[in-house]
Amino acid sequence: KIGEWEVSQSASAKALIEAANYLKAKDIPVAFPTETVYGLGADATRAAAVKGIYSAKGRPSDNPLIIHVPDLDMLRHVLQPTANNGATNGSHDHIPEIYKPLIERFWPGPLTILMPNPIPSRLAPEVTAGLKTFGVRMPASPLARSLIKLVGAPLAAPSANASTKPSPTTAAHVLEDLDGRIELILDGGSCPVGVESTVVDGLCDPPVVLRPGGVSIDELRECPGWKNVEKAYKDHSESGKAAPRAPGMKYKHYSPKARVVLYEATYPDLHKGVDQQALELKDDSNLVGVIRTRQWGMGGGFSCGDFNGQEKLVAPLEPDSQPGVELEVREADLYKSLDGATIGKLLDISIGKDSRSIAHGLFSALRELDRRGADIIFVEGTLDDEDIGAAVMNRLRKAASQIKS
Ligand code: TXA
Ligand code: MG
Repeated sequence: KIGEWEVSQSASAKALIEAANYLKAKDIPVAFPTETVYGLGADATRAAAVKGIYSAKGRPSDNPLIIHVPDLDMLRHVLQPTANNGATNGSHDHIPEIYKPLIERFWPGPLTILMPNPIPSRLAPEVTAGLKTFGVRMPASPLARSLIKLVGAPLAAPSANASTKPSPTTAAHVLEDLDGRIELILDGGSCPVGVESTVVDGLCDPPVVLRPGGVSIDELRECPGWKNVEKAYKDHSESGKAAPRAPGMKYKHYSPKARVVLYEATYPDLHKGVDQQALELKDDSNLVGVIRTRQWGMGGGFSCGDFNGQEKLVAPLEPDSQPGVELEVREADLYKSLDGATIGKLLDISIGKDSRSIAHGLFSALRELDRRGADIIFVEGTLDDEDIGAAVMNRLRKAASQIKS
């Protein structure tokens, strides 16, 4: 069945109806596109269906899921305690005031907000993993919203990757991770944003960002009540003792198979970093991946600095590659500069200069280098830490850290 979906570029109404009927009848989740990344969806009101998500992904059961709604009516419905069935209190819609400017400005779009979970709740307890709140967003993708409308219930959906892998931004990525574990993928092409939604908690004072994502902290600050929003995620070190506020942030994440080496700082540091790492390379048949953002104006060659004390690993590069939607992998020989002996291949990907295109290409590039069997991946960070670049750096720091769950 998966084959039929794979080939369809834009899911037809028929495909959507089939997927919706499947979600209503079965307890196996369906992967679907959103503007951020692909989600692995199940009816959030049915416990058996939600359990199916955790088992397909291999996700720890204490990591809550966010729910997706197509419109505010569905959100209002979820916010009503079930005991109160149908009896809406006209003057109060249960949406906390603090969120109204965000909803107005960013929905539908890549922003997840935490809401108080009513008691008793329509949501299966597995969605919230025992927390008193649930995360919710209204995705911008019309395809995603149509699917949820057809199901007639909110869809709980984490990113559709196997736990610990980079989030999928194409249907092929989903298939790579979940083939044999799910039966349906709705293929909506590649996800325009490329990193997950920003998760915020406005139920505390000051409000906080739990995960940086598609909506930047600067944009949040422009909204009434959000001027003093704080970051509640760890950026540079994951070793702190305080328990992370978003349970998912404590797990190993975004990790390709290859070791990832991230250059955070300036150009000279890049050389220093490579020196140390290069020494651990095999002697021949190395496959070295490089993901460039070209924000640092790197020249025409990639240099690995000192190798075994004296020699250099260098590879020629074409100076200009187009930052683009399509991933282009350049191959070059990797050789020791002094004796010129080839000791492997360099796989070089440019994902663009501006932070939007970097975000769009990042997970794809990590996965592509993995697929080609890279031994090590060198990544240039972005300099821009407030825009969507904050989300990019957050994901890269996790990919480059050795932290295990
Ligand atoms: O863009 C996205 O948000 C994608 C697409 C599919 O919508 N979804 C996604 O879901 O990234 P997931 O499960 O991979 O990440 C959700 C994050 C996790 O870090 C989780 O711990 C946190 O949100 N989260 C969910 N519910 C929460 C809650 N009630 N309190 C605190 N954190 C919560
Ligand atoms: Mg995820």
